[in-house]
Amino acid sequence: MATVTLRDIVKIYGDFVAIKGVDLDIEDGTFVVFVGPSGCGKSTILRMIAGLETISHGELRIGDKLVNDVPSRDRGISMVFQSYALYPHMSVKDNLGFGLKIAGVDKAEIARRQDEAARMLGLDPYLERRPSQLSGGQRQRVAIGRAMVREPEVFLFDEPLSNLDAKLRNQTRVEIKRLQRQLGATVIFVTHDQVEAMTLADKIVVLKDGNVAQIGSPIEVFERPRNMFVAGFIGAPSMNKVEGTVQGATVRAAGLDIPIDASQFDLPADGSPIVVGIRPEDIVPEGHGLRPEFGVDFEAPVTFAEMLGNESLLFLDVAGSEIVSRMQRPELIGPGERRRFRIDGSRVHLFDKTTENSVRK
Ligand SMILES: Nc1ncnc2c1ncn2[C@@H]1O[C@H](COP(=O)(O)OP(=O)(O)OP(=O)(O)O)[C@@H](O)[C@H]1O
Ligand SMILES: [Mg+2]
Repeated sequence: MATVTLRDIVKIYGDFVAIKGVDLDIEDGTFVVFVGPSGCGKSTILRMIAGLETISHGELRIGDKLVNDVPSRDRGISMVFQSYALYPHMSVKDNLGFGLKIAGVDKAEIARRQDEAARMLGLDPYLERRPSQLSGGQRQRVAIGRAMVREPEVFLFDEPLSNLDAKLRNQTRVEIKRLQRQLGATVIFVTHDQVEAMTLADKIVVLKDGNVAQIGSPIEVFERPRNMFVAGFIGAPSMNKVEGTVQGATVRAAGLDIPIDASQFDLPADGSPIVVGIRPEDIVPEGHGLRPEFGVDFEAPVTFAEMLGNESLLFLDVAGSEIVSRMQRPELIGPGERRRFRIDGSRVHLFDKTTENSVRK
């Protein structure tokens, strides 16, 4: 397996700069996930690493080797797409082996790798079937198997699970992670899906408009978002954001004086505007979940409740601001019903109103 290094990578289409100078160090054997809104450049970066797209500027290394001008097939990568792109007229077994046969790998070796992939992916019962005789999840496993048999240095996945239904998505996600661990593989995985990103990644790369907004472990990007964009993008439902002002060791927002641990932040002068970010789970309805030790209580009408079964999302009107609270072990709440809540002051995020950057030290 190998490291992948991007240095000031730029992609220009005509006069549109799609990727604006990306630096990235992907260590050997790590699982890296690219997330970001549609059009931010996830697939473009992946395709440049794969060699399916030229690199306008910058350096791409796989292992120690500069590969900007190395053809795709010689880069030691395998890519799995959203559409499985299997050969419809071939059996699963032949789909697994075809690329190797073309590459002139000898028969015994092809058979060994086919067997191994089939065993690891649970494809043994289907080896003689055609792709049309398989479910979507099984087809995607064949596509993954076809990537595996090439024994690549790096696996690239572009939204491989997005054609699968929810249950199969979860199963296949777990299988991919298990496989990556077993192989010790370097994986770069693109997804729209928060849960996929959080559960699969050793490192998440959050992209915005062709730039890296933040790189970090799942817990880092969740707990310590560097700016309002990452704060809003990671976590569902999104972090609440309310404009307020700094007053010593409290911030005043939505008519509340929320206590904060001022030592955690580089705070502007008292009276300065600040954007206060609070995750829905840090606004705890009374009697539902642990009462935060350090916080502020308030009462507000629930304008709307979205019942999800194991939890419910409560939309509150707090002095004219719409704020979402997450209720554990939910009970039914009628529209307009008033409830008491407590905000966890120790988990509040603060952002500069102008730069939108976190003011956390
Ligand atoms: N061949 C092309 N010519 C011109 N512009 C392109 C081309 N391919 C992609 N782009 C543009 O580059 C930007 C990044 O596209 P890319 O496909 O990488 O986005 P993405 O993050 O993968 O989005 P999605 O989540 O929708 O798949 C987009 O604005 C897209 O329109
Ligand atoms: Mg894409």
